[in-house]
Amino acid sequence: MCGIVGYAGPRPSSPSSRPVDVVLAGLARLEYRGYDSAGVAVLDGDAVRIDKRAGKLANLREEVAGHEESSSQVAIGHTRWATHGAPTDANAHPHRGGKHGELALVHNGIIENFAPLKAELVAEGYEFDSETDSEVAAHLVAREMTRLADEAGAEEGAAGADLTEAMRRVVSRLEGAFTLLAVDAAAPDRVVAARRNSPLVVGLGEGENFLGSDVAAFIDATKEALEVGQDQIVTVTPDDVAIIGFDGAPVTDAKRYTIEWDTTAAQKGGYPSFMAKEIHEQASAVADTLRGRMENGRLHLDEMKIDPALLRSIDKIVVVACGTAANAGSVVKYAIEHWCRIPVEVELAHEFRYRDPVVTEKTLVIAISQSGETMDTLMAVRHAKEQGAKVVAICNTRGSTIPRESDAALYLNVGPEIAVASTKAYLGQIGACYLLGLYLAQERGNFFPEEIAEIMHDLEGLPDKVQAVLDNAAQVEQLAHDMADATSVLFLGRHVGYPTAMEGALKLKEIAYIHAEGFAAGELKHGPIALVDEGQPVFIIVPSPRGRDSLHSKVVSNIQEIRARGARTMVIAEEGDTDVEPYADVVIRVPATRTLFAPLLTIIPLQIFACELATAKGLDVDQPRNLAKSVTVE
Ligand code: F6R
Repeated sequence: MCGIVGYAGPRPSSPSSRPVDVVLAGLARLEYRGYDSAGVAVLDGDAVRIDKRAGKLANLREEVAGHEESSSQVAIGHTRWATHGAPTDANAHPHRGGKHGELALVHNGIIENFAPLKAELVAEGYEFDSETDSEVAAHLVAREMTRLADEAGAEEGAAGADLTEAMRRVVSRLEGAFTLLAVDAAAPDRVVAARRNSPLVVGLGEGENFLGSDVAAFIDATKEALEVGQDQIVTVTPDDVAIIGFDGAPVTDAKRYTIEWDTTAAQKGGYPSFMAKEIHEQASAVADTLRGRMENGRLHLDEMKIDPALLRSIDKIVVVACGTAANAGSVVKYAIEHWCRIPVEVELAHEFRYRDPVVTEKTLVIAISQSGETMDTLMAVRHAKEQGAKVVAICNTRGSTIPRESDAALYLNVGPEIAVASTKAYLGQIGACYLLGLYLAQERGNFFPEEIAEIMHDLEGLPDKVQAVLDNAAQVEQLAHDMADATSVLFLGRHVGYPTAMEGALKLKEIAYIHAEGFAAGELKHGPIALVDEGQPVFIIVPSPRGRDSLHSKVVSNIQEIRARGARTMVIAEEGDTDVEPYADVVIRVPATRTLFAPLLTIIPLQIFACELATAKGLDVDQPRNLAKSVTVE
C-alpha cells in the first residue's frame, strides 16, 4: 500500500539535495506502492512545513521545487493508497498533530479503533482536517509530547519532550496495522518511527540515516540496511539509530544486512515501462531463481531449515497466496502432487484464515508472496503457525515480514519488481516452487537422484526457451494493437493451462481495464460458452500433443466448439502442433517442453498482450488505477 520515507542527515542545503529532495527521490522509487496523493514534511525553524497534493508525485514536486531553503535536518514523506477518505489534498499525508500543528506524521496501514480515539480527541478540543484514521495518530503523539513536556516542567512543545517516548505511549493504544513516522519541532534532529504488521526498514548511511517502507527508498544512497522487527520503535538521527520494543526495552539484536539489488534494477533501462522491462528480463530472472541448486547430483536448498525428517512426515501441503502469487500456487499444485504424491490445496490467503481450515503439525504451508508484506498472506501464515504447521515462504523481498515469520524461506532472486502488475516474480515463484517440490520429492524418496537430475536439467533449459518466446514478441504486440478496442476477452486452459488462463485474464483486467475471464476449458459447456458470440476474442492455451493425448485432443475439441459459435480463436500452442491450425485464427508458438513446465512459457504472450494493449490504449501500464504494489492492509 502506501510508501513511506524518512531522512535524518546533514545534507547541505544545495537546491537538489535538501532533506526534502532526498525524501522526494525516495518517494519516486516507492510510488509503485500507492499513487493517489503524496506529501512531505520538513522542519522550518520552530515550525513544521507540510506540502501535500492529490494525484501523482509530479504534482507535489512542482509545489516543493519553488520553496525557499530551510535549515531542516529531517524530512518525512508519503505516497498514498487511500483507505479512509478520498484521495484529496486534505486526506494526503503528512498530517499535522497538536493544537498548534507542531508535529507531522505519516502512516501506512489501518488504525482499526480510530473512531473512539478521534471522539476522545475531539472532546478535548483537537480539530481534524481530514477524514483519515491516520490524523488520530498525529494528534495522539502530539498530545503525548505536550504531556511529557508538562511532566518535565517545560513549556508546551519545548525541548525536553521525548518524541520516542511519546510514540511509545501512543502505539499501545492503537489497534490494527501501522507504520508511523513522525517529526516534531521540539525534536529537530530526529525522525521517530513505529511498526506493527506493516513494513519498515532502516538505511544506514555515513552521517545520515534513512527510513523506508522498503529498501528502494534509499538504495541510491546506501546498501546497508537494518531490519525493524514487529512492535518496535526506531529513532534515527544523522549519527545514530536506536531501536526499542513497544515495552521500552532496548533492541540490540536488530539484523543488519547488505542489499544485493543493483540500482539499475530500479530504472526502466530504455523500455517504455517497468512492466515491459520486467517481462523482457524473465529469461535471466528464471535463471537466477534456479541458479546454484545442484551439487554432487543432489538438490540443495540451504534456506530450508526444516528438518528433513519432518518433511518426510507431512501428509498435506497448503499453498496460501493472493492474486498472481495464488495463480503461481495453482500451477505448482500439479507438479508437487505429481512428483511427491502429497495432496496440495491452494487457497486464497484471505479465505483460508476465516474458514477454520484443517491444518495440523503434519501440514506444510507454502506462503507465496513477491513483496513478503501482503497482509492477507501474513495473517494466513500466522494462523497456520498457531495450528502447529510448518511454513515455507516463497518470496522475493529479503528482510520482509512473511519470510521472517516463516520457518524457512526460499527467495526468488529475480531483483526488484517495480511494475504493479507482477510478471517476472510470477515466473520466479513458479520456478522456486518447482525447486521446493523436487526437494521434497528427493527428501521423501519419491525419485532416484538421477531422476531429479534429469528433471532439473530440463528445468535449467527453461531460460533459453523463455528467451525464445520473448524474441517472438512482435507477433503478439501487433495483435494487441489490432485489438485495442476489445471490450471483453476470454482465456481457456486445461490442467496447468487453467491457472495460466486465470493469470492471463488477471493481467488484462488490471492494466488494460478490459473485462476478462479465465476458465477451465472443460467448464465451458457448463455455462461460460453462453458468452461466446460472433467475434468474441478467446485465447486458448493448448497442452503439448506429446503429453496425455486425451488432454490435447479435448482442448482442440474445445477450440472447435467455440469457433463454431463465432469466436475469434487465438491459440497458444507448442511448435510443431499442427492439429490446432485449422481452428485457429491466430497461432502463437512456444517451444516444446515438459507439460509441467509449459506455464513458464505460455504465460509470456499473455503478459505481452496485456502490456501492449494497455500501452496502445494510452494507459499508465506501471501504475494502474486503484491498485498498489504491496497490499499491506486486509
Ligand atoms: C497482480 C499482482 C497481485 C499480487 C498480489 C500478491 O499482477 O501483482 O495480484 O500478486 O497482490 O502480492 P504478493 O506476491 O506481494 O503477496
